[in-house]
Amino acid sequence: MSQLTILQFPDPRLRTVARPIDRVDEKIRSLADDMLETMYEARGIGLAATQVDRHVRMLVLDVSEERDDPHVLINPEIVDRQGSQVCEEGCLSVPGEYAEVERAEAIRVRALDRDGEPFELDADGLLAVCIQHEIDHLDGKVFIDYLKPMKRRMIEKRMKKQARQARRDPAVQTL
Ligand code: NI
Repeated sequence: MSQLTILQFPDPRLRTVARPIDRVDEKIRSLADDMLETMYEARGIGLAATQVDRHVRMLVLDVSEERDDPHVLINPEIVDRQGSQVCEEGCLSVPGEYAEVERAEAIRVRALDRDGEPFELDADGLLAVCIQHEIDHLDGKVFIDYLKPMKRRMIEKRMKKQARQARRDPAVQTL
């Protein structure tokens, strides 16, 4: 397994719409494992392939306290949504920024697992938020797209400044 580099907003590659995976082979399984390792190392609860510059429809997540419940969702599709909830979200591609986003409270997702087997999952609460957030990445969206223009511009400005600093001093990126 190896760790992958996570794209940082406003990297334009985060706007790529990922393509469906037509065959779950060894290459895809190995990408899933690398994504899980990258997610755990970065202390995230979810990661979409888009964020590691692989533009295929796959996401990984683990919302458990013990960090021992990894899930791989391939070609995920929300087939039902109920209610709404507001949750404070962050993102490994937008480090240090958090904001409230309104999403469905409960969803049903259809996907393939790491072995290519189809399954359906009923999710609510944080798990539902996480899945909706990661599917957005596969569609080229980030959570700050939902914010009011002023708040969004503020975050964009801070992130651009950070990116400039990181280019000047590569060590900053590892902080
Ligand atoms: Ni994210």
